[in-house]
Amino acid sequence: MLQCSSKADVGKPTKKGTEHVFFDTARQGAGEHNKTITTPPFALIPPLDDGDDQNDGGIPKSSPEPILRLQKCLIRPFYEGDAAAIVKEANNPKIARWMRNTFPQPYSTEDARNWISMATNPAPLLDFAICRTDRNTVIGCIGLKTRDDIHVRTVEVGYWLGEKHWHQGIATEALSAFSQWTFDNFDHVLRIEAEVFEGNEGSARVLEKAGYAFEARKRKAVEKRGLVLDALTYCAFRDGS
Ligand SMILES: CC(C)(COP(=O)(O)OP(=O)(O)OC[C@H]1O[C@@H](n2cnc3c(N)ncnc32)[C@H](O)[C@@H]1OP(=O)(O)O)[C@@H](O)C(=O)NCCC(=O)NCCS
Repeated sequence: MLQCSSKADVGKPTKKGTEHVFFDTARQGAGEHNKTITTPPFALIPPLDDGDDQNDGGIPKSSPEPILRLQKCLIRPFYEGDAAAIVKEANNPKIARWMRNTFPQPYSTEDARNWISMATNPAPLLDFAICRTDRNTVIGCIGLKTRDDIHVRTVEVGYWLGEKHWHQGIATEALSAFSQWTFDNFDHVLRIEAEVFEGNEGSARVLEKAGYAFEARKRKAVEKRGLVLDALTYCAFRDGS
């Protein structure tokens, strides 16, 4: 059984009383802006024919509908059947070294189940599986963290991809399309930012290719595995202001 919201709820702000409540969780602050996404390097592809299991590329009927169907990957909500694939892809110190400490290492089945439970509960959904187009198996993750108070019009994007899928343009395609999807589905969001640890050249390049601009270097802002590192902020904007 799926724990996620109905398809109609995916990506939609919730309404509470007379106030629109876009997100529930509180996050930290934001800075100045200087860049917009213009022509992202991705193309949407039409839905697969799901009238017949034989013609849908083997995609299980129980998995949630994608929010984005791209040329190299699908982006869809997580569901309970994803645990084994998440462990297989995420249990890798080469991924964890560039992630916050909330990303487990080693990454167990229990960690994956906890993640699925967290990722499928909020409304609207904010965290999504990146999957191969042909098998619908999870190969990575992309998601948003929200801010509150004066920073409510900023969201932070984060992502990772299993190592054997690197260097195929998948992260660039996923981030480009997901950023546009974020602006399209959350009217209040003006700014998407990402924080990259010093030395993560792959992620910095992905952000640049997806239309993000380098904005700031926060010196000695991060300690990861006992190493103090700078944190680099990249951002993209709804418009060019
Ligand atoms: C960062 C990551 C998502 C990149 O995924 P990917 O699908 O391999 O990226 P792409 O194939 O779209 O690559 C885009 C560009 O980045 C470059 N790139 C990718 N990995 C690189 C690396 N390790 N070093 C230098 N450049 C790299 C590619 O060559 C490509 O540039 P090009 O088109 O000019 O040749 C993946 O390596 C990953 O999951 N890393 C660990 C987790 C992580 O860093 N997450 C982000 C935290 S901010």
